[in-house]
Amino acid sequence: MHYRASIKNLTEYDPILINYTFVSSSLDFSQQGKFSGIIEKSFMIEIDQELEYQSVFLPFEFQFNPNNDYNTVRFLLKENRNHDMKKNVPKNIQIDRYNETYKHTFKDPGYFEWDAEANEYDAVSLEYSDKQYDTLVITPKRQQNIKIKLTNSPSLKIEYLYKENTVLVINEENLLNYEHLRSQRDKDINLSKHECTFGAFRSDSEYYNSYTQSEMFFERENYIFGPQSIGLDIKFMGITNLYGIPEHPGSLRLLQTWDRELEPYRLFNIDAFEHSVSNNDPLYGSIPFMLGVTKDYSIGVFNNNPSDTDVDIKYDQDDSLTHWIMETGDLDFIVFIEDSPANVMKAYTDLTGTIELPLLSSLGYHQSRWSYESSLDVLNINENFKKNEIPVDFFWLDLDYTNDKKFFTWMESAFPNDTDLLFKLDQDGKKNLVTNIDPNMKLHYYISEKIRESGLALKDAKMKDFISDSWSGESLWLDFLKTEESQQLWEEFYKQFLKSATDSGLSNHHAWNNMNEPSLFKKFERTLPLNVLHNDGFEHRSVHNLYGKAMHEATFNALKVAYKNNKRPFVLSRSFFAGSQRTAASWIGDNFATWEHLRNSIPMILNNGLAGMPNTGADVAGFYGNPDKELLVRWYQLAVLYPFFRAHAHLDTNRREPYLLLDKDPIYGNLVKESIQLRYKLLNYIYNEFEKSSLTGEPIMKPLLWKNYDSSTEVFMIEDQFYLGNLLIKPVTTPNCNTIDMYFPESNDLYYNFNKLDEKIEFDKDSTNRHVNIDVDIHSIPIFIEGGSMIYLKERTRRSSSAMKFDNYTLIIAPDKKGTVKKTQIYYDDGETYDYKKSDRYVKSLMSFEDNVLIIDNIVSNMSCTPQYIEKIIVLNPCNENEHKVIENLEIPVFESTTSNLP
Ligand code: NOJ
Repeated sequence: MHYRASIKNLTEYDPILINYTFVSSSLDFSQQGKFSGIIEKSFMIEIDQELEYQSVFLPFEFQFNPNNDYNTVRFLLKENRNHDMKKNVPKNIQIDRYNETYKHTFKDPGYFEWDAEANEYDAVSLEYSDKQYDTLVITPKRQQNIKIKLTNSPSLKIEYLYKENTVLVINEENLLNYEHLRSQRDKDINLSKHECTFGAFRSDSEYYNSYTQSEMFFERENYIFGPQSIGLDIKFMGITNLYGIPEHPGSLRLLQTWDRELEPYRLFNIDAFEHSVSNNDPLYGSIPFMLGVTKDYSIGVFNNNPSDTDVDIKYDQDDSLTHWIMETGDLDFIVFIEDSPANVMKAYTDLTGTIELPLLSSLGYHQSRWSYESSLDVLNINENFKKNEIPVDFFWLDLDYTNDKKFFTWMESAFPNDTDLLFKLDQDGKKNLVTNIDPNMKLHYYISEKIRESGLALKDAKMKDFISDSWSGESLWLDFLKTEESQQLWEEFYKQFLKSATDSGLSNHHAWNNMNEPSLFKKFERTLPLNVLHNDGFEHRSVHNLYGKAMHEATFNALKVAYKNNKRPFVLSRSFFAGSQRTAASWIGDNFATWEHLRNSIPMILNNGLAGMPNTGADVAGFYGNPDKELLVRWYQLAVLYPFFRAHAHLDTNRREPYLLLDKDPIYGNLVKESIQLRYKLLNYIYNEFEKSSLTGEPIMKPLLWKNYDSSTEVFMIEDQFYLGNLLIKPVTTPNCNTIDMYFPESNDLYYNFNKLDEKIEFDKDSTNRHVNIDVDIHSIPIFIEGGSMIYLKERTRRSSSAMKFDNYTLIIAPDKKGTVKKTQIYYDDGETYDYKKSDRYVKSLMSFEDNVLIIDNIVSNMSCTPQYIEKIIVLNPCNENEHKVIENLEIPVFESTTSNLP
C-alpha cells in the first residue's frame, strides 16, 4: 500500500524562500514558568506573477516543570489563528474547535503549570550572548544541568545543552515548517512557489480518484482549512542509536529511512490486514516518543501530536538526524535529557503516566480464540485444563458471543446465562472471562439508538451521524473524545451489561477493545475519513491516533464503576497512544504462525516498553495459520516471558488448546505444559517487575542496552535477547536449533544457567569476546541468572494464580564472584484491589546475601492476612568446581526484617 499518499498537503519546502527567526523584542517570561515569544515565518509568495514578501507570526513557548528536577523542556509553537476564517465554517460546528488542539495525553494536564504566586524569575534566567540580540541562552533554575540556546542567524536554531555540551539541535537542517491555515480561495490566489497543489483541498492521488470517487471527493472537498502540515528536524548529537516510536514491525534499533529505501516511520493507527514484518509500515498503535541512547546521556523526544506523522531517520558517523512531519496540529515537542535510559523513562512517564499494578491473575495464562462457541465450550475447555494440570486464569470470548455482532448483547442460544458462566469460572480458582467490545455499533438496536439519541455519534462533515461499514455491518461510532458525556453513556452500557454478575458480587468479567484504530471496512486505509468530526468540530485528521486510547480509557473507568468492589479492571486494547499504559495492556495484533513472526514479536514488545507501554504481548502461537509442533513449543517457551501472555488464533485455524497437543504428541504437549507451569512459578517474580515499572516507567521485558548503555557498542543492536528482572534470555527462533550464539553483556561477569543450575558462564574483567555458543535442545530456551541476584519462585503447580496465593517461596540465591547479593526486592499485595494504593496494604522487603547470611530488610509490612514465607532456598555456587546447595523446610517470613544464617 502506498502510505505516503496519505500525508496530504505536504508542503514542498524551499528553505531559501522560507525563513524562521525569533523576534527579540517579543521575548517574555512574565507568565509563570513559561518563556514565550514570537517566531516570525517569512516567505515569498507569487501575486500577479510578482514575488512578494510576507510574514506570519507564530507564538512559541518553552515550558519547564516546576515540581521536580527532571530535565524536561516543552517547546510549543502555535499559529496565531486570528485571521478571518469563519466564513468557511458550517454554522453548527463550533469554530473554537479549530483554534485549539485536542490534547489527551498527560497524566496531569497541569504538569507544566506553575503556581500563580511564582515569581517571574523563578523559572529561568536569560543571557544574550551577542549584541544584536540574535543569540539567547535560557537557563532553567530548577533544572541545573541544561540550557537552551536560540540563535537567529542564518535562521532559527534551537540547541539543548546538557552539562554544557550541545546534545540536541532543532532546525539545524532548516526543515521547520508551519503551514498556516487558509481557505481554498486564499490558497488558489496565493499559492507560492514552495507549495504544491497536491491534496490541498481535495486529493489528486490516483488512489482517491479510483476509490468510491464521489464520496471521497466530498470528504476531501470539505477540509475547511485546507492544508496545514507542520514539521521540523531534530538532530541527536553524539547519538547513533534511536528506539521507540512504535508501533512498527521490524527492528528494535530504528532503521535509517532517509535514503528512501524504506518509507519513513509512519505513526498512524491502522488495522493492517495480514501485514508483513519485513517493512516498517504503521500498525495499530502509535506512541510518538523516541529514545536516543549513548554512554553519557540519553534523550527522549515526545511529539505530543496525535495526527498522521512521518519520521525520517538518518544516521551519521556521530549524530542522528530526524525529520518529523505531521498532518496538522501544533508543534509540541517535549524533550527529556538525563544520564541514562532509565532516567529518561522516569521523566517521560512522570509526564504521561506509568502502568497501574495489574490484577495478579492477568499475568497468568490467557486462553483465547476467535471464537469460543458457547458457555459449555468454555467450561469444557476449563475442565480439560484442570484435568491435565495446566494452570490458566482467563478465558476470552471474541466477537461471535454477541447476538449478530451487536456489542453488549449475548447470543442467547449459546450463552444463555452469563452470570452462571462467570460464577462457575469464579468458583474454580477465581478464573476470569474477557469479552470483546469493538467501537462499531450496529445500527438499529438499543445501544446505537441510545448513542444517536444522545447526539454522541461521530459526525460527518455535514454534522450528520457518520455511518459506515464494519464487522457489525452498517454502524456508527461513539464520540469518545466528547469525554464526559460519552464516558457516562459508556458506563451505563457496561453497568447494564455486567449488572446481573455484579449484583451477584462477581467482578471477573473484563474487557477487550478491538478494532479501535478505528477500523472501517470500506474506507480509505480502513479507517475514519479524515474530515469526520469529533466533539462538535475537531477534524478526525487532528486526533486520529487518540481514538483507541479515548475508548479504552472510557472502558477502564466504566469497569471500575461497574464492579463496585474496588477491584482493578483488566482492559486489552489493540490501539494505543502515549499514556495508554495507564489503563490498558496491548498486544501486537494479527500475526502469523511463522518463525519470522515469532522473532518479530521480540523487538516489537521491546520497543513498546521503550515508549512507556510495557504491558504488551503477542498472539501465541500466531493468529493466522497452524503452527507445527516445534514452532508451537518454541513460541510458548518465549511467550511465558512476555509481560502479557495470551494464546489466540483466527477463526479458520485448527483448535490448539495446549491439552490437545498432550493427547496427540505427549512429548511436545508436555513441553508446552511445562512452559505454562514455568510462567506460574515465576508469576510473583514477574509481578514484582510490574510493581517496579508502576513506579519508574521501566520496561518489563528489557533490551540489553537498558543495563549496558555505557559499555559495548554491540548491545545497541541486539534484538533477539532480553532481560526479565535478573534473567537474561535468548529465545530460540529458528527450527532445528542445536546450538545458539548468545551474548553475555558487560554489566555482569557471572551468569548461572537457570535450566542447569551448576553450569556457569564466567568472564574476566578484560575479556572482550562476550559471545558464547550454548547447546540447545527442545526442552528449554537459554535462560541465565545474573550473578549477584536472587530469583524467587512458587514451585507448586495449581489450577490458577489465586489457588497459589498461600504458597510459599523458593528462593534461588545466585551470588556474584565475591559470594554476595545486593538488595533484591520482593513485593506482594492482594493482587486484586486498590488497597495497595489507598491504604498501603502491601509488603515490600529487600533481600541481601553475604557470608552465607540472608538478610531481609522489611520496608512496608501491611498485609498480615496473607503472610508469605520462604520455604526453600537454593544457593548457587560461584566457584566453578562446586555444586549448589538446597535448604528445605524453612519458614522465613518475607514480611519482617530478619537475619538467617544458612547452614
Ligand atoms: C481482529 C483482531 O485483531 C483479532 O484478534 C480478532 O480475533 C478479530 N478481529 C475478530 O474479532
